[in-house]
Amino acid sequence: MREGRVAGRRIIVTGAASGIGLATAHMLAREGASLSLFDRDEAALVQVATMLQAHHATVDLPDEGAINAAVEAAVKAMGGIDGLVNVAGIGGMGRLADLTLADWTRTIGVNLTAPFLMMRAVLPHLQTAGRGTIVTIASGQGLTPSAPGMAAYCASKGGLVTLSKAMALELAPAIRVNCVCPGVVDTPLLPNAMRAVARKPESPYALKRVGKAEEIASAILFLTSDESAFVTGIAMAVDGGRTYH
Ligand SMILES: NC(=O)c1ccc[n+]([C@@H]2O[C@H](COP(=O)([O-])OP(=O)(O)OC[C@H]3O[C@@H](n4cnc5c(N)ncnc54)[C@H](O)[C@@H]3O)[C@@H](O)[C@H]2O)c1
Repeated sequence: MREGRVAGRRIIVTGAASGIGLATAHMLAREGASLSLFDRDEAALVQVATMLQAHHATVDLPDEGAINAAVEAAVKAMGGIDGLVNVAGIGGMGRLADLTLADWTRTIGVNLTAPFLMMRAVLPHLQTAGRGTIVTIASGQGLTPSAPGMAAYCASKGGLVTLSKAMALELAPAIRVNCVCPGVVDTPLLPNAMRAVARKPESPYALKRVGKAEEIASAILFLTSDESAFVTGIAMAVDGGRTYH
């Protein structure tokens, strides 16, 4: 019998090969979950899956066929699904005048369409389990944009915040859906310029520092565990205090 805050839960984590997804996979495994890890970076994914003795599927989001096949493989490997954590995402930078339709479509595809397809694919399995949790990772940029040049990213993350709330309403009471909105977090995705801005005395980030991937994983763990049993439909800012003021 496994012990921990999510002991025995069968959870899919997307974007598990790096950054926040990687920290989340480690934390959920430590707290007793069985995991199926999805990412497009096969080499890094195999490494973490081997370390955590987890199932893995190499998926380039938002490929619908690949998502459905990977979810079915995860069900076979874990014997069902109790939770989903949508972490995978891309930056999608570019000012409006330079933003191509291809860049826009790619950003919306990975950051918004993929979580929709993932939620739809896991839904029958969460319903079979009789209860479940979904956590999506949006961004503070999806609540309040803070700099020019991020239109596609902000739109994708704002859409994800609202999609998560709409799903919370639609899937309650059996399934809880919550969203985490990180501020600047020290991962390969974070542009150096934003790292520097966060630390300045005049920084809009009240805590004047960059966050750690584990600090986002802790929020994900809380929203996935029964400790948050009375919480659904929230967009939780874990952002060093940028978006509250
Ligand atoms: N780092 C930050 O400052 C920050 C702030 C707010 C929100 N976020 C969000 O957190 C999430 C994780 O970001 P991170 O900082 O850990 O970045 P990261 O680049 O370290 O990790 C992202 C992971 O997603 C995977 N991925 C990207 N595109 C994919 C695709 N098409 N198919 C499958 N896998 C794909 C990557 O291979 C990588 O393993 C993202 O959704 C990001 O938007 C990050």
